[in-house]
Amino acid sequence: MKFETFELERYMSAWENVVDYNLSESGVHPLSLNDILTAEELDELSEMELLYCQANGTETLRSAICGLYPHATPDNILVTNGSAEANFLTIMTLLEPGDELIYMMPNYLQIWGFGRSLGVDVKPIRLKDDHNWQIDVDELASLITPKTKMISVCNPNNPTGAVMDSDIMMRVRELAREHDLWLHSDEVYRGVELSGEESPSFYAGDEMDIVVAGLSKAYRLPGLRLGWIVGNPDFVWKAWSLHDYTTISIGTLSDWVASRILQPQRRTALLSDVHEFLRTNLKILQGWVDDQDGLFSFTPPQAAAIAFLHCHLDGGSVELIERIRDEQSVLVMPGKWFGMENYIRVGYGTPPDYLKAGLERMAQTLSGLRIEAAA
Ligand SMILES: Cc1ncc(COP(=O)(O)O)c(C=O)c1O
Repeated sequence: MKFETFELERYMSAWENVVDYNLSESGVHPLSLNDILTAEELDELSEMELLYCQANGTETLRSAICGLYPHATPDNILVTNGSAEANFLTIMTLLEPGDELIYMMPNYLQIWGFGRSLGVDVKPIRLKDDHNWQIDVDELASLITPKTKMISVCNPNNPTGAVMDSDIMMRVRELAREHDLWLHSDEVYRGVELSGEESPSFYAGDEMDIVVAGLSKAYRLPGLRLGWIVGNPDFVWKAWSLHDYTTISIGTLSDWVASRILQPQRRTALLSDVHEFLRTNLKILQGWVDDQDGLFSFTPPQAAAIAFLHCHLDGGSVELIERIRDEQSVLVMPGKWFGMENYIRVGYGTPPDYLKAGLERMAQTLSGLRIEAAA
């Protein structure tokens, strides 16, 4: 089997720790253990024996995760190394070469690339910028054939930060049920809505509902590498038996920390800090866009620390972001790697001064481009 390159992750892995200003991250600026644990807990953590963790996640952690999904019990949960592993195991467990998968675009293209590498026929259903980044459900229905096995959405969406309207969500669910399709929803950005109101999960306890999420984005803990799958117990068992081949288990320390911070009160406190911070930073980004003489426009995100800026310059998005990187040592992501040209994704979840400084540097390259375009 030949794997397609996952261009976004390849590029971020190579550059994110090299540039002066990294505005390529989609999560909110990470926290430290000191920010989230008490002194007693830190002491306890330092005494822990570093055993292998319970391979599907400890009962304590799986019970805490269930708290986020009213229809789930610990048997519905598999804990994984990030939501990246959760997505990988889901596709590996459920799809075969020749199956069709309907896939939301633009998107984080992990499943796009991995599915195609497996021989799955991945068909895009496009979010529309002029419809507040929503999908057209009639178009979705028209893509379903007897070979279709799964619909996969990312909600809230990366890279647009859009949240699916509740009536569209209901119709997507109905379509999946009517055609006996797996409905996979990547919800790693759930909890980081700018309104402060958590978006609903697709997990309704149906046999064919699968939700993937984790602590990297809303919870600001990407270094824990903690994700999970929610699904029916039989599917979870099968995905777990593949997890024996991928990573066996997650880290003991990560399981322990996650079990604590997902307790209801702590979780609410952790998430509530994020909303005001993001609203303030989004104003900084909006002000910067307004100062760029119409080079960019965007539909404001409803969730996540990312904005997908429509770029009104000629030329490809990869060339643009590489020029910004080379001239200014600032990293942002090109629309092409989310399946949509003429856009760039800017992460605005960094500390405000850092965000302003990175944007100021970007503006210098853009003013050079304007002069070249006028000449
Ligand atoms: C939609 C989506 N899913 C999954 C991931 C993987 O995240 P992690 O493995 O850190 O949970 C990302 C990372 O950016 C993402 O944007």
